[in-house]
Amino acid sequence: MAWDFEAIAKQIDEEIKTVSDSKSLEFFRIKYLGKKGLIAEMYSALSSLSAEEKPTVGKNANILKNRVTQLIEDKNQEIAGLQRNQSSKDSLDITMPGVATPIGHQHVLTQTMDEICSLFEKLGFVVQEGPEIESEFNNFTALNIPIDHPSRDAFDTFYLEEHDPHKNDRYLLLRSHTSPGQIRIMQEHKPPLAVVIPGKVYRPDAVDASHSFMFHQIEGLLVDEDVKFSDLKGLLTVFCKKFFNEKIKMRFRPHFFPFTEPSAEVDISCYKCAGKGCSVCGRKGWLEIMGCGMVNPKVFDAVGYPKGKYTGLAFGMGVERIAMLKYGIPDIRIFFENDVRFLRQF
Ligand code: PHE
Repeated sequence: MAWDFEAIAKQIDEEIKTVSDSKSLEFFRIKYLGKKGLIAEMYSALSSLSAEEKPTVGKNANILKNRVTQLIEDKNQEIAGLQRNQSSKDSLDITMPGVATPIGHQHVLTQTMDEICSLFEKLGFVVQEGPEIESEFNNFTALNIPIDHPSRDAFDTFYLEEHDPHKNDRYLLLRSHTSPGQIRIMQEHKPPLAVVIPGKVYRPDAVDASHSFMFHQIEGLLVDEDVKFSDLKGLLTVFCKKFFNEKIKMRFRPHFFPFTEPSAEVDISCYKCAGKGCSVCGRKGWLEIMGCGMVNPKVFDAVGYPKGKYTGLAFGMGVERIAMLKYGIPDIRIFFENDVRFLRQF
């Protein structure tokens, strides 16, 4: 069989131009270089050719084979380049206008807690956190809260279904105040110690403008050999003046907590009306801001401190309440809506 090599070369050059993807390139390869392709046909015909024809056909078949191989290689690179361009176009168009990532704002409660903790840090306190899941022992028993105390009721405390691994007849619970943190600290450390314990607490309260089933408290505890009630008054007065303002007046009202004796509630003169009476303080002129007292010796007994050796002061405040008072926020529920328009105001 005689072949018009020149015409075939031309046809190959034309045909490769129409190839635009890997699939059609493969058809092209099979057509010329495949086992039953044109070049293979030429080689297998060699044996039946005359001695004069053989070298010409052989040489031209080789030339065609090299040419097709080269064209396929070039086309392959061209297709790969196209694909790269296409995929980078899909992922990034540098001519598009930018999309700004929305930036949040530090929550006013986080700011308030940081501010309170850092004031106490300046006074030598260490910040320590405790777990939100607690034992009945730490949350109540060790704090001298009797077994029949109403705050132990399931209406006032969230109990878990899990038992306390150390006391199998008792359940675990979500701490209803940060005071169990006092027990943990004293079980692990000997006096002198001064800590503040910030964190979330839980109570099954119906939600309204001043109640939430979860809120934040900051607990304070200072234990040493000669701590007096005057130390408690001095400490909390310095704190309140720094946190609210230097002009406020303080009032310590006798109160009762099972874990402190004596106990007091702390009022500050209303920041809005300076004690005259307004809507913020409900015409009383005073705002209640925390509970406090001298650590009850029964609590020292519960953590195994030697009898009569130490005295201590403790206090606990609600962070939402304090932030509401400081910034004039009327409803506790706003804190948990996380509306960035609200949060950006602080
Ligand atoms: N735990 C008390 C409460 O939740 C507050 C408090 C803490 C009172 C420490 C006295 C001492 O109301």
